[in-house]
Amino acid sequence: MGLTRLRGFQDLIGADARAVAFVEQCARTVAERYSINEIRIPLIERLELYQHSTGETSDVVEKQMYAFADRDEGQTTLALRPEGTPGVVRAYIDAGLDRSDPEQRYYYYGPMFRRERPQKGRFRQFNQFGVEIFGRADAACDAELVIMVDEFRRELGLELEFEVNSLGDATCRPAFREALLEWGRAHLEQLCEDCHQRLERNPLRLLDCKTDAKLTATAPSSADYLCEPCRRHFGTVEELLSKANVPYVVNPRLVRGLDYYTRTTFEAISKAVGAQSAVVAGGRYDGLVEALGGAAVAGTGFAIGVERIAIALEADRFKREGAPDAAIIAMGEPATVSAMELARALRTAKLRVEMLSPERGLKALLRRADKQGAHFALIIGENELTQGVVQVRDLKNSAQQSLPHGEIARHLLAALRR
Ligand code: HAM
Repeated sequence: MGLTRLRGFQDLIGADARAVAFVEQCARTVAERYSINEIRIPLIERLELYQHSTGETSDVVEKQMYAFADRDEGQTTLALRPEGTPGVVRAYIDAGLDRSDPEQRYYYYGPMFRRERPQKGRFRQFNQFGVEIFGRADAACDAELVIMVDEFRRELGLELEFEVNSLGDATCRPAFREALLEWGRAHLEQLCEDCHQRLERNPLRLLDCKTDAKLTATAPSSADYLCEPCRRHFGTVEELLSKANVPYVVNPRLVRGLDYYTRTTFEAISKAVGAQSAVVAGGRYDGLVEALGGAAVAGTGFAIGVERIAIALEADRFKREGAPDAAIIAMGEPATVSAMELARALRTAKLRVEMLSPERGLKALLRRADKQGAHFALIIGENELTQGVVQVRDLKNSAQQSLPHGEIARHLLAALRR
């Protein structure tokens, strides 16, 4: 039996795990600045929750769910969450907040599961950092979310381009849908297999077909069907983004693959990830809380694809950051006690310290320290032990000096400029 990793699932080791943790930390920092509270929700929910929100006509629910029957009497069908929004909405309704205190702001972080065809930037388990805002129907809230992603991008030092669109609402969407349906029927013979299906189930999805992109460029555009309130809403979003100097373009084909969106949708695109270039995506979902049994409360949010952002960042930087400031080499048993005391003192001074295995020769240990990227090797042998000193070797320039224990932390901090 090959007990290997499953296709589309990843082990994140060392620098790779560090990159993902860094993205998470940056997102938390920015979200806290916006005074958003954390929410932690289960990884497993009823399959129905996703059918009623993400949508039965979405690829996610139709083709990509990890669903299974529970062992309870009714054999409830459960699913690993493919995205965070439905669970957050469910939790918000469960807590009764939609009625008692509707204006709420949440962020979440954690793994999502979609049985997609794996490729660069597309995994079957991936992490999202998401934000959901309830009880704010105004355009300023949509703009603030895009601005927040822009701030996150700056924090990371990453180039991203923003695409925005408006899909209209329950008043104007039906006419747009009808126009697409009509257009689709008129071009049926030229459309691909998948689009034939999309046409009947959710004609909006015609617009994000990659195969028929050239043809669907001539299809009706949502902008031409917006009712006056939706047009005004989108106009305000655009105005606020321009004033905030967010680099965005309007993409009338941005319909998004999930069924709950209304009005504003947006994506942030990175050129560094390849085909899976949407690194952040979101939008407004004003009907969703009500559709899941709650009050009529507006909602809007986004989710960051954490691994995709990590791919877009320069990987080398995380290898460097993982390196110890000092590697301690104790030659022989008696030196170990002294070495451990030294390690403790240096860690108290907030230095990053690794103890090397005492079971190898000095040469091999110095090679190991260098390979780990350590700045210093601190060597304690028999002589050093009797003299109460440590050999401090700067591995960047091979300079070596002998220093008493008490001076090492200060010396290292000065050399590392901390
Ligand atoms: P989504 O576009 O399905 O939206 O996913 C958001 C982001 O998650 C994508 O832009 C991408 O970066 C990342 N992502 C999605 N699938 C994968 C995958 N298979 N592998 C790696 N990364 C992936 C949502 O999930 C909505 N819940 C966003 C939202 C929140 N809208 C409103 N609030």
